[in-house]
Amino acid sequence: MTREMMWTGFLATLLIAVTLGTAALREPTRQAEALIRLREEAVAEGTDLFAENCAVCHGAAGEGLGATPALNNEGVRAMDYETLFRTIERGRYNTAMAAYGVNEGGIFTDAQIDSLIAVIQFGDWQTVSARVAELGLTPPEAVAVEISEETLASVQSLPDGEALANGLSLYAENCAACHGGNGEGTALAPALNAAELRERLSDGDIQRTIEQGVPGTLMAAWGAALDGQEIADLTLLIRRWDELAAAGVEIPVVEAPPIDMSPEAVAEGERLYSILCARCHGAEGYGTRMAPALNSQTFLTQTSDAAIQQIITLGVTGTAMPAWGGRLTEADIAALTAYLRSWEPTAPAIVDPSTSGQGGGLPAGAGPPWRRQ
Ligand code: HEC
Ligand code: HEC
Ligand code: HEC
Repeated sequence: MTREMMWTGFLATLLIAVTLGTAALREPTRQAEALIRLREEAVAEGTDLFAENCAVCHGAAGEGLGATPALNNEGVRAMDYETLFRTIERGRYNTAMAAYGVNEGGIFTDAQIDSLIAVIQFGDWQTVSARVAELGLTPPEAVAVEISEETLASVQSLPDGEALANGLSLYAENCAACHGGNGEGTALAPALNAAELRERLSDGDIQRTIEQGVPGTLMAAWGAALDGQEIADLTLLIRRWDELAAAGVEIPVVEAPPIDMSPEAVAEGERLYSILCARCHGAEGYGTRMAPALNSQTFLTQTSDAAIQQIITLGVTGTAMPAWGGRLTEADIAALTAYLRSWEPTAPAIVDPSTSGQGGGLPAGAGPPWRRQ
């Protein structure tokens, strides 16, 4: 072996060692890059799953809608992985949060649940909201009532006025659509301003109803969306509603924008109805044993477009009436509402024999449960 050959051999060995060494140094970064790529893929997959399944209740940007809590905050982001996994896999018992894991009769594999968790922990909610909009799945705006500065000021001047005014703002935003602008009740929900209610329910009862809801009715549990103080302020408002009336406080009811009743919209609604709703509510809405008649004078005159849209979107928890919001667009739900509304001029006044004389002529088995006999 010549000196040159030895030298070349040494150099080659050195070169290999150096190359390997640098590769070893670079390895952690490569792994980190691979992890980031995997995470990005998971976030992208999870974003679509979120848009199609969760945005309807949790909001397009995870901001929370109505009684459904927000997911876009530090508290949820910082929840441990196990808790998040269990919540999505098994749902929360007795709430609208259903079990999504295949093991629990749901639709998602473990990997899909992981993708959803990736969105919650690492996703960018602005991107999510843009994707939800792109898919046409932005949920309809909740119907809220505006209260003027004047009204708020007059409430603030009452004893303990700050808490009362806060309760009123929360009420206008979250409750008025069902319970009426002045707590007078609507076809969807009972009055909250009645002396009878104040006598029947203690503060604790009212608080518990708001926090836990009434399962099987449109009254959702608000405990996850409102904190203890907010629920206390709402309770105070309900307790002292007669003082508002005495002080002349009246909240205007803001009507939702009218829905499109064009022949095209009604025809589209009819098409969707025959595919999705007729099997339960019957051909032309005459009802079946599965579900109440919708083609009824009483139901249609007593239920506003906004209320019908809300029922179709959110379903009725604890009954066979599904929430359609995740599967239908806002335009679909408006078209269905237009189709139902188109029956009104000719709708029969259906009287259920079992309730006639006491039920005020509600259609068979129809109307919210608290109105049934
Ligand atoms: C029909 C409405 C609805 C849908 C759809 C829905 N959720 Fe929920 N979700 C809720 C409600 C209500 C709660 C609060 C439950 C409670 O009171 O603990 C909740 C709670 C949660 C929580 C716990 C939040 C916390 O602060 O403890 C997570 C996480 C969650 N949902 C994720 C999801 C994901 C992911 C999806 C889609 C796969 C989804 N949800 C779909 C209604 C819904
Ligand atoms: C989607 C419609 C809807 C919304 C929104 C809603 N409620 Fe209700 N609420 C109902 C219905 C329906 C009932 C009757 C439940 C039953 O059958 O017992 C009810 C019952 C109640 C009761 C018990 C009344 C009684 O006579 O026993 C209270 C209190 C109440 N709601 C407060 C609230 C408050 C406060 C809010 C807002 C944070 C709210 N509700 C939002 C539908 C709604
Ligand atoms: C699997 C059966 C089923 C299907 C499918 C179904 N519904 Fe329902 N729906 C029900 C039941 C049951 C109720 C009564 C819930 C209750 O007890 O308050 C109901 C209630 C309603 C109500 C409120 C009626 C009232 O008197 O308060 C409306 C509006 C409604 N459904 C519309 C629809 C529309 C629109 C579709 C199709 C997109 C649809 N439903 C599909 C079972 C169903």
